[in-house]
Amino acid sequence: MSGGRPRLVVASNRGPFTLEERSDGSVALHPGAGGLAPSLAAALAGRTDTVWVAAALSPADRTAAGRSEDVAVESDQSGLALRFVDIDDETFRSAYDVVANATLWFSFHGLFDASRRPLFDRRFYEAWERYRLYNLAFAAAVDAVAAPGAVVLVNDYHLLLTGSALAQARPDLFTVHFSHTPFPGAEELELLPPSVRAELLGSMSCFGACGFHTARWAGGFRRCADAAGIEAPPTFHAGLGADLERLRALAGSEAVGRHASALEERFSGRRLIVRSDRIELSKNILRGLRAFDLVLHEHPALRGRVTMLSRGYPSREGLPEYLAYRAEVEHLTELVNERWATSTWTPVELDVDDEFSATVAALMRYDVLLVNPVRDGMNLVAKEGPSLNTRDGVLVLSRFAGAYEDLGEDALSIHPFDVSDTADALVRALEMPAGERSRRAAALRSKAQHLAPAAWLEQVLSEARLSGRAVTRPSC
Ligand code: F6P
Repeated sequence: MSGGRPRLVVASNRGPFTLEERSDGSVALHPGAGGLAPSLAAALAGRTDTVWVAAALSPADRTAAGRSEDVAVESDQSGLALRFVDIDDETFRSAYDVVANATLWFSFHGLFDASRRPLFDRRFYEAWERYRLYNLAFAAAVDAVAAPGAVVLVNDYHLLLTGSALAQARPDLFTVHFSHTPFPGAEELELLPPSVRAELLGSMSCFGACGFHTARWAGGFRRCADAAGIEAPPTFHAGLGADLERLRALAGSEAVGRHASALEERFSGRRLIVRSDRIELSKNILRGLRAFDLVLHEHPALRGRVTMLSRGYPSREGLPEYLAYRAEVEHLTELVNERWATSTWTPVELDVDDEFSATVAALMRYDVLLVNPVRDGMNLVAKEGPSLNTRDGVLVLSRFAGAYEDLGEDALSIHPFDVSDTADALVRALEMPAGERSRRAAALRSKAQHLAPAAWLEQVLSEARLSGRAVTRPSC
């Protein structure tokens, strides 16, 4: 960090890197998982005025947190410094698993199954208290590092209560909250207890501004605030685009080359439907499998000629819902394969490794890319795929993915709950004439790169500066 305290502070639960202590005592940096961190880290490359505050997730992160020192990132993202917040295990598990992932994530993605969940019992309210403490710990860490008048970019549903805490502690800061998730409609948010809903929206209203990937999610937030009688802060939308430079560098790498050759050998002469997601309930992997099963049932000529390559890496396995979902995905994959496989062809191949170079190779090679989430804040795969693909592949895209606002016109759109519609779109994609494929692929490539990370960050920061300082209403 040059010249004292940072002018920009980024906060998110998961940071761009986690630390690992090697046997010789040196410390290695590992890139954080997920879509947000790598894009944002790339946008921050070269800035020397920024500290990224994140939860300590590894023992070496905790050691660094204990020293209350920034860790300099010496890599292609150099310039950036990390500050880890050490949160005790019980508080972290309650805030991350029970509130952020099992409650807010479900609420924001419309995943509740109302016959059983949500369920607000004593355990939930204890977890809610810990979610508050976790947010206060983050706000204290931001307060400790931020220079007077700094811009603070807070990310996602883990940190919604930092809005009010920062407004009280540091009214000099320009705070902006950005949601990488959808934001639900007013009736859906009403599934949360009134006190919880009011505290969340009240705290969000204390940020200088709130940003979302699409106009739809921003509108949802304003309507929720309105319905709760809370004055929304200035809102904006900025749909993050694909990072073409980073993707091109990766595509040319030796590791991707190796994976690309392996794919050619594995799927030689076959058409490929690719999907790439965390094994995550909102990604709608089960209906995707059912749609492919239907395609094979109704189109015998496609049997043996098309493979669905599903790259899905395990996620949030601390939650029983995620473990059960993974088991269901694996079971349904087996069923489809049992039904249609031949001695030389496996219809669905499920790769569960988390290796981005293998994903890049698959995205370069697809004939059809299936992105069918039940709801998604943006879905960067829908943009990374067309940016990397070399075969004029067709994008089959859920109309409830944030990316649909940018790409819907040139993709084949589907209703993610409608398996018949999805099956028809897959067939149409596989049969699309070359001219139409090429026209659509070119349009997607160009639109996917709009608001690439650096431009996206500039827009978010300028919205923060324009909207002014954190709000100091009595409710904050
Ligand atoms: O999509 C929303 C999001 O918060 C991303 O910003 C982030 O990559 C991911 O979800 C968080 O996932 P995890 O629980 O694995 O940190």
